[in-house]
Amino acid sequence: MQPMEERVAQLMREVEAFLPSSAEDAEQFRIRTLGRNGSITQLFDDFKALPPEQKKALGQPLNQLKNLAQEKVQLAAAASPRKPAAAQSSEDITRPGEPGHLGARHPLSLTREHILSIFQRIGFSVAEGPEIEDDFHNFSALNFPEDHPARDMQDTFFLPGNLALRTHTSSVQVRVMENGKPPFRMLAPGRVYRNEAISARAHCQFHQVEGFVVDKGVSFAELKETLLFFSREMFGVHTQIRLRPSYFPFTEPSAEMDVSCMFCHQKGCNICKHSGWVEILGCGMIDPAVLQNVGIDPEEYCGFAFGMGIERIAMLRYGVNDLRHFFENDQRFLQQFSGGIE
Ligand code: PHE
Repeated sequence: MQPMEERVAQLMREVEAFLPSSAEDAEQFRIRTLGRNGSITQLFDDFKALPPEQKKALGQPLNQLKNLAQEKVQLAAAASPRKPAAAQSSEDITRPGEPGHLGARHPLSLTREHILSIFQRIGFSVAEGPEIEDDFHNFSALNFPEDHPARDMQDTFFLPGNLALRTHTSSVQVRVMENGKPPFRMLAPGRVYRNEAISARAHCQFHQVEGFVVDKGVSFAELKETLLFFSREMFGVHTQIRLRPSYFPFTEPSAEMDVSCMFCHQKGCNICKHSGWVEILGCGMIDPAVLQNVGIDPEEYCGFAFGMGIERIAMLRYGVNDLRHFFENDQRFLQQFSGGIE
C-alpha cells in the first residue's frame, strides 16, 4: 500500500484540479471523496491507526485536503440553479404544501338562496329595489296613513330630502307594479333598516324576502297553498301552518303565519314558548287602494303578498338563538356553514 503522505498528496492534486461541470458532477465528486466510503473518509480511518509521531505530520495536510474538498462541493452547489443549498438546509422541500383556506357562503346567503329557489320552482321571478327610498314607495303608495307609527322617527332612519332607509321590501312591490303590467309573480329579497336597539331578537338592519302575485281572480286559498308549499319545502313535509288575523296597511285581509314547531314537533319547548307554533311571516290580499296607487285597476286585478325575515328563517333552520351572530363575522360561527348546506 502507498504511504499515507503520497496518498494525501495525490488526492490533493485531484481535488485541486477538480472543476465541476454540473450539480450532478459535484454530487458524484462528493460521494467519491467525502462519502461514507469516499477516498478522504478512508484516509481519515487509516489515520486513526497511525503511530502518534506520524499523526502529527499528517494531521494538518489531511484536514486541508478535507476542507478543500468540502469547499469545492459547496461552491458547486451554490452556483447551480438546479440544486439550491437545500441539501444543506433543514427545510424539507418534499413536504406537501399547506392547503389554502376556502371561503364559505354566509348562512344568510344560503337561506336566501334556499327561500328563492323554492318559490322559483313555482314560477316566481326575482326583482330588486333601492335601499334608500322615498316616502311614496316605502309608505304612501302602500296605504300608510300620515300618522302611522311606522313613519315615526323611532322606527325609521330618515335621510335629508324626504328620503329614508327602506323599512321593508314591500317598497319593491310598488316599484315593480308601477313599472310593469300584470300578471306579476315576483320575489324581492333585500336588506331593510329599522331604528331599533340591537338585541338577540332585533337589529337595526336585517333582511327580508317579499313575495307577491297580481293577476285576475287570485284567491286567498292560493295564498294559503303557496305558503303551505313553501313551509313544507323549507321545514319538512309534516309541517303545518296556521294563519292568524292581523293588520298591515297594504293588505286586506291581513294575517300572520305560524308554522308547527320544528324543534319539539308541537310537544312544547322554549323556542315555541310551549305553544307548538312559531311565527315566520306576514301576508294578506293586496289592498285595492295599493293597486290604484300604482295605476292597476282593482276591478280587474287582485293579488296577495307576503314578507318574511331571512334571519328569522335562518335561526329556525340552523337552531341559532342570537340574531347578532349573523353580523359579527366571527370565523368560529361562520365556519360551521362551510359545508354549504342549502
Ligand atoms: N312588510 C311587512 C313587514 O315588514 C311584511 C308583509 C309583507 C306583510 C307583505 C304583508 C304582506 O312586516
